[in-house]
Amino acid sequence: MKKTWWKDSVVYQVYWRSFYDTDGDGYGDLEGVIQKLDYIQNLGIDVIWLNPCYDSPDIDNGYDIADYREVMPKAGTMETFERLLQEVHNRGMKLIMDLVVNHTSDQHPWFKEAQSSKDHPKRDYYIWRKEPNNWRSYFTPSVWEFDAQTEEYYFHSFAIEQPDLNWQNPIVRQEIYSIMKFWLDKGIDGFRMDVINLLAKQEGFPDAENPEDISYLGNNPGIHDYLREMHEEVLQHYDIFTVGEIPFVTPEDGLLYVGEDRQELHTLFHFEVCDYMANWDMERFKEIQRRWYQGLWGKGWNSQFLNNHDHTRLVTRFGNDTTYRVESAKCFATLLHLLPGMPYIYQGEEIGMTGVRFNSIEDYHDIAMKNKYQEEVEKGREPEEVFASLLHLSRDNSRTPVQWNDMPHGGFTNGTPWINVNPNYKEINVAAALNDPESVYYFYKKLIQLRKENEVMVYGSFQELFEDHQQIYSFIRELDDEKWLVVLNISEQQVQIKLPESLSLLEKELLLTNYNNQEEQNSELQMRPYEARIYRI
Ligand code: NOJ
Repeated sequence: MKKTWWKDSVVYQVYWRSFYDTDGDGYGDLEGVIQKLDYIQNLGIDVIWLNPCYDSPDIDNGYDIADYREVMPKAGTMETFERLLQEVHNRGMKLIMDLVVNHTSDQHPWFKEAQSSKDHPKRDYYIWRKEPNNWRSYFTPSVWEFDAQTEEYYFHSFAIEQPDLNWQNPIVRQEIYSIMKFWLDKGIDGFRMDVINLLAKQEGFPDAENPEDISYLGNNPGIHDYLREMHEEVLQHYDIFTVGEIPFVTPEDGLLYVGEDRQELHTLFHFEVCDYMANWDMERFKEIQRRWYQGLWGKGWNSQFLNNHDHTRLVTRFGNDTTYRVESAKCFATLLHLLPGMPYIYQGEEIGMTGVRFNSIEDYHDIAMKNKYQEEVEKGREPEEVFASLLHLSRDNSRTPVQWNDMPHGGFTNGTPWINVNPNYKEINVAAALNDPESVYYFYKKLIQLRKENEVMVYGSFQELFEDHQQIYSFIRELDDEKWLVVLNISEQQVQIKLPESLSLLEKELLLTNYNNQEEQNSELQMRPYEARIYRI
């Protein structure tokens, strides 16, 4: 398998608005990212993924862009951005940016012009129809919004304020390529491509049998032509890294996006776990990993993540955020860093930050959650009940500010934070983590260091043990003479297992574990709640 710098990398996601505020406006900013770069570098990070900081009315936290060549004032200025990039590079790290080109903001001049008249030359930058079909969008009951001035509907996969671009229009495509070059020529190291498989739409917009299953939005004919063209016109001319956000994708289709012979993207995020597994489901998780390994290994590269700015923090959603917070955070970290694929760390994950439970819908800002709340209440459902049902997966679970210390607002801001800080900041914060050699932080650091020293974590093959076990996830990674055994107890119970005779652990090196006091073991292991072990065998 071809070795590349990005396959070896660990990525750290910076959701800058919740990272660190330096000007007291309650929003994190790019200057804040600069000031915390040493922290990120000390963790051992190779690549930073920066969420969108382009000029935007901020209806969907920057995913609604009004000017692709400007920096949002809340984030800073172009000068700050350029300094950030320089400082990242000075520390030997790389920076990738979000590329959000399925849609723009409705405040983008292109849309305003397109909306001004049916005959405007830019009308065709967007998608217009005389009649809607029955599709729903991610955030609203219909993908169509009526425009009173020109008496047609425009198409939006997300909020009403996020009209989709018409990728069938070659001028639109050229505009986007030029924007990509603008940033790449500044020296950025690649893109995380927002819902990139949504660019191509179904011809004729036929009604769906089940409009609730919105997979009709993605993977439509034409998508690979667009991506190949993008590769030819832009990507191939730079030494960069690309990761596509690709919902509704199977490994077979995934390979079409990231196959090494395809000239499209390097890696992808699929959402079989984060979009479809509300709580931990061992059987399902194993099946997903197995299928993706079989589908991609040797042909294309995968990613591993269990949370990001759209998905509830992993200890709260999949682990245990009270009694076993630290143990489960470390156990899932081991899982993510030892499975085949590039590991992504979402800011705060490295100190075991947890999801939130605010008291009222007023405390929430996530447009997906707020719209859903309103939609359900309008249907006549009890507001309390709707509210309760939305808490577990609200995107704000992961959007609360990074907890830096035990000062007011967790040291995130001197002002009023745009979203409340998780009240547990006095206990869970970066300063406390840095002071505690047993913290989640130092465990991540060790995992990242191990990866740098051992190619088996990147290029080693993957073979499962105990395939049907409901609590234990165990596998072997192997590369040349190097063979590692990973054993994880992803449960709150103590579990005993007996390894196959051929795998005696006597005198084998225990490379990393999240529990002290390991007794020498032969083939019988007593695994404590969320215990994780990595052996060189
Ligand atoms: C995926 C992004 O991660 C999410 O935050 C955003 O709302 C949608 N794409 C729309 O851009």
